[in-house]
Amino acid sequence: MILQAKRIVLGLSGGVACYKAAELCRLLVKAGSQVQVVMSEGAQAFITPTTMQALSGQPVITSQWDSSHPNAMPHINATRGADLIVVAPCSANFLSRLAAGACDEVLSLMCVARPSETVALLLAPAMNREMWSHPATQRNLRQVQADGAQLLGVGTGEQACGETGDGRMLEAAEIFEEIQAALSPKLLAGKRVCITAGPTFEAIDPVRGITNKSSGKMGFAMAKAARMAGAQVDLIAGPVSLATPRGVQRTDVTSARQMADAVAACVDSADIFIATAAVADWRPAVEAEDKIKKDGSGRTPALAFTENPDILASVAASPRAKSAQLYCVGFAAESGSLIEHGRAKRMRKGVPMLVGNIGPSTFGRDDNALVVFTDAGELEMPRSSKDALASELIAMIAENTRTVG
Ligand code: CTP
Repeated sequence: MILQAKRIVLGLSGGVACYKAAELCRLLVKAGSQVQVVMSEGAQAFITPTTMQALSGQPVITSQWDSSHPNAMPHINATRGADLIVVAPCSANFLSRLAAGACDEVLSLMCVARPSETVALLLAPAMNREMWSHPATQRNLRQVQADGAQLLGVGTGEQACGETGDGRMLEAAEIFEEIQAALSPKLLAGKRVCITAGPTFEAIDPVRGITNKSSGKMGFAMAKAARMAGAQVDLIAGPVSLATPRGVQRTDVTSARQMADAVAACVDSADIFIATAAVADWRPAVEAEDKIKKDGSGRTPALAFTENPDILASVAASPRAKSAQLYCVGFAAESGSLIEHGRAKRMRKGVPMLVGNIGPSTFGRDDNALVVFTDAGELEMPRSSKDALASELIAMIAENTRTVG
């Protein structure tokens, strides 16, 4: 949503990672942005302007002497009215040119000529690990940051040259997420948010257990949206197979009791607690040390259960939550009568906001339909992507905490 109708300048300097820039361009265009590609001479040795023109739907700027611009100023035309410049890949050579303020080729000229107050400059470095750790590169990185550029970091792992280490360019999807973050309003700047997500798994014996169908997608979307809004985010995740949103601190847990301990460790310094996890209400009273075996008699094992701690209810009953220093948000997965159950559950949990949904119609999916319960009544949020719903919820939470705080 945030990228709809945005004007993004995508700069490519020379590096093997240019192939990832093609994918990044596609993602930006798909998200509704208008993309102006600018390529250095080095970049054109790795990927052609034709490819980037086809993907962006616009002629690529390759030279400051491009006569197709009536005023002969492509560096001014491309940056005025732009929302953001991202250089991906940003080579070691380009970095040194940027650090020196070089203006003798179109890409660095354009970065220097951008209105720095309104047009953010994001750099996605890409280079060999030795080049990355060289003191000159590290010095240039500090310099460009001091000059106002935002560094997106690098990946670690196998490099095109065959060596292994730091310096690989981030993946297109990661850079895409950083661009979204850079353009998002910082509604939760300075806030610390603790979020639980996913199911819990309660062991019966070393090979079996009880869990539920929660995929964790809504909780991860909330973590991503909170981070994009400028919050420092602690995400406590049950067993899920989802990638950690960028910039989010993740702790993996298995059982409800482990989740309760992890929450206790981070919630005291949080401003907002969001409980999206589908915590198992009960666990087997005894976890068998060895696998429970069939004894041939046809008898089934008798399982006794114990209630798990109610994480949300106990956080909501804490003095910080009671004195509005900690804003608590619960989620409710119901199988029907959502309004009735949601209202009752919000009161029972003692939280200012509860977000209800019909579990079986959302588990594992990328979309959801929600009802938000607060003191002001109920608000229906029609079916939409979990990412879009999460940003709307984060905006509501920011608004409510602003009013309360
Ligand atoms: N929750 C929790 N700890 C538990 C159970 C639930 O923190 N032991 C939180 C969930 O993360 C969610 C909210 O409480 O934010 C409601 O969870 P839900 O499973 O819908 O409700 P329950 O309290 O378990 O009630 P019921 O199963 O009877 O509907």
